Amino acid sequence: MSETRTIRPARRLVGEAKVGGDKSISHRAVLLAGFAQGTTRIVNLSTSLDVASSLRCLRALGVAMEQTSATELVIRGRAGRFAPPARTLDCGNSGTTMRLLSGLLAGQPFTSRLDGDDSLRRRPMRRILVPLERMGATVGARDGNFPPIVITGTRPLRPITHRPEVASAQVKSCVLLAGLQADGQTTVSEVRQTRDHTERMLPIFGISIRKESLSVCVQGPSVPLSPGLLQVPGDPSSAAFLWAAAAALPGSQVTVRDVGINPTRAVILDVLRSMRVDVRVENVRLWGGEPVADVTVRGDGRLQAIDIGESLVPLLIDELPILGVLCAVGSGSARLSGAAELRTKESDRIRSVVTNLRRMGAKIEETPDGWIIEGGHALQGAELDSFGDHRIAMAMTVAALLASGESTIRGAECVAVSFPDFFEQIEALRA
Ligand code: S3P
Repeated sequence: MSETRTIRPARRLVGEAKVGGDKSISHRAVLLAGFAQGTTRIVNLSTSLDVASSLRCLRALGVAMEQTSATELVIRGRAGRFAPPARTLDCGNSGTTMRLLSGLLAGQPFTSRLDGDDSLRRRPMRRILVPLERMGATVGARDGNFPPIVITGTRPLRPITHRPEVASAQVKSCVLLAGLQADGQTTVSEVRQTRDHTERMLPIFGISIRKESLSVCVQGPSVPLSPGLLQVPGDPSSAAFLWAAAAALPGSQVTVRDVGINPTRAVILDVLRSMRVDVRVENVRLWGGEPVADVTVRGDGRLQAIDIGESLVPLLIDELPILGVLCAVGSGSARLSGAAELRTKESDRIRSVVTNLRRMGAKIEETPDGWIIEGGHALQGAELDSFGDHRIAMAMTVAALLASGESTIRGAECVAVSFPDFFEQIEALRA
């Protein structure tokens, strides 16, 4: 059911917020725990619909689990051998579920069919199917590229060296997970650094990896061994929406506690600083190989628009929509380039951002691989659309907080894909 939500402008946001467990890390935690030998207790697990999709698929593959609280789950691993699924694996809206799980399924000697919602059915899968086929799996997809996909696994797989054409942590992780079931060394050489959660988590499951600049190697065959306990940091890509709203509303101060600041994820904080925003990072510590901290962002009305080029895109990929909003209200102009990948996300995020911001009176032009913004134009309330994309719904909610007059957002319920209590957190911070 599509929910249209009305968003009132905000004067400022003040207070502390705690975002849910990181979605990317949670996916990896549950997939590795389900595949590993031993029992894993996962603490601060994301309550997002996307991670629920990974859990649903794991259950269909015979993984036993017990939810011990809203954010705590105990998973009994299958020691490298899933049970053949009785029906299609429903990945919902989650590209991460489909792409990472495919890597594990490529080494399982049975056939799996993976499908998803209308948005996922439009997302490209050739990027994982080509390397998995080279490794020996038999694969199929609609038009060779789109879900539903079918994978018949084989064991052992052939080890490969793979150089993905796109900078994608999902592709890298898919091939590394398949590599666990290959007979020898599998290497992924990236074109650019992408988020490195898989590389950080594998050693915690007893799998040694080798890293050399942009290459990662795993040695197969090896079955991950449960570490017993895993604690998931807060999600910086969720926090980014709260920080952005604070940065743009003078007099705001928002602290997010226990949030991940992995350098492949927290570039948003450097970008905010370059936009002249006051960012404070305190109490840095490590949770299961991942750095976490308490991060405070203060708004003082000096926001400056900024250019973002190809080299930063993979490290900011999920934050680009909200950065578009900030650049529209900041002073100066901004160009985003080298970001064509945004068109392959839950919606065409270039088109979604441009369409919505224009409705609010922003000066923004679409380009094939990004946008050009003339900042400093006040936003007006408007009828906005999530286009079924959680990050667009949240970015446009922040835009609506900064606007004069009320806005409505169609399809706002999709925030639950990554940040189920987003609207409650925003309301609690209004001051
Ligand atoms: C993710 C990687 C990114 C990101 C997505 C989650 C992951 O996708 O956009 O939200 O968990 O590995 P790509 O790696 O395909 O760009």
